Amino acid sequence: MSSSVLQWVWLRHCVFATLMVLCVLGVFIMYYKPDISIPTFNIHMVSQKEGDNHSQPDTIILIWMWPFGFKFDLSCRVFGITGCHLTDDKSLYRKAHGVLFHHRDIHGDLGNMPKEPRPWFQKWVWSNAESPANSGRIPGLDHLFNLTCNYRRDADIPVPYGYLVPVTDRDQSFELPAKDKLVCWIVSNWNPNFKRVQFYNKLKNHINIDIYGKAFGQHLNNQDFPKIISSCKFYLSFENSIHTDYITEKLYNPLMMGTVPVVLGPTRQNYENYIPGDSFIHVDDFASPKELAERLLYLDQHPAEYSRYLNWREHFKVKISVLGFDHACKTCHYLENHRGYQAFHDLNKWYWG
Ligand SMILES: *[C@@H]1O[C@H](CO)[C@@H](O)[C@H](O)[C@H]1NC(C)=O
Ligand SMILES: *[C@@H]1O[C@H](CO)[C@@H](O)[C@H](O)[C@H]1NC(C)=O
Repeated sequence: MSSSVLQWVWLRHCVFATLMVLCVLGVFIMYYKPDISIPTFNIHMVSQKEGDNHSQPDTIILIWMWPFGFKFDLSCRVFGITGCHLTDDKSLYRKAHGVLFHHRDIHGDLGNMPKEPRPWFQKWVWSNAESPANSGRIPGLDHLFNLTCNYRRDADIPVPYGYLVPVTDRDQSFELPAKDKLVCWIVSNWNPNFKRVQFYNKLKNHINIDIYGKAFGQHLNNQDFPKIISSCKFYLSFENSIHTDYITEKLYNPLMMGTVPVVLGPTRQNYENYIPGDSFIHVDDFASPKELAERLLYLDQHPAEYSRYLNWREHFKVKISVLGFDHACKTCHYLENHRGYQAFHDLNKWYWG
């Protein structure tokens, strides 16, 4: 064979091989196109989130009234919520995604509610941390709100008074405070008709109770509360009124401070929706106040059994909600994820029955 023929054969193989490579590459691109485009898409998303703060406008929550006039910080960063703009500036009314109202500060004639029409996207949020017994009905509220924000678990935005979160390695180990009292109670609202007062009057015949508070002309400051509560083995976490889910700081304060709460409120089962069953004593667990007193006196004499009530601390620690602040941040977080239409009717029936 002449060299020119050899060259031609070589050229032909070469062209064939190139065509094959192109063909395989074409098939590959055709089938793997989605895989190639997805990373590009991801990179685009990431760069938008990290690089451009304003690609997603903040959710604006207008605090129409400070709860009981009590102001709080307007940043939700402690919750890791970043896309929120909380404000009390009423001139932002037309832009606000949510407007937060505090029930106890709403005038009965609705005179302090917004006068301007509500923007189509804006949701009015009813917030209240008081029980029905401690909140007045306002008939005009029935068809006004879009969302409820309340301690009840069936609220749109539930905000319990406190909650347990896991302990982390960064948490300091807990030292049980020294205890020189057996049972304590701090009470400000002394109403002889309250179930808690009637129960106390029977219980005190069987066990010594150290009692403090406004009801006895005592003014306690913020340092006194933890000092008193932590120095007692048991604390009477007696709610002022009995309602499902109405479990207040009266429970979470002693729980946080290493004191075993003796609770009077909704059912044991309801408490166990929030805290472990072996972290508290329920008055309903006993046939009479006398039997409860006997149990407390027994635990006083049996420290190993007493300390079992504190075992939950190995895994959990207490967080206490801040009135208004937790409500505002949770509302904002909720609205970030719920932009659709929502309305809440019959508020009075829902809350006051
Ligand atoms: C986003 O905003 C925050 C606070 O406003 C700022 O600290 C941060 O540097 C901004 N990030 C970018 C990438 O612009
Ligand atoms: C909020 O509720 C009111 C009253 O029911 C209703 O007129 C309004 O359209 C609702 N808005 C949204 C954004 O759901």
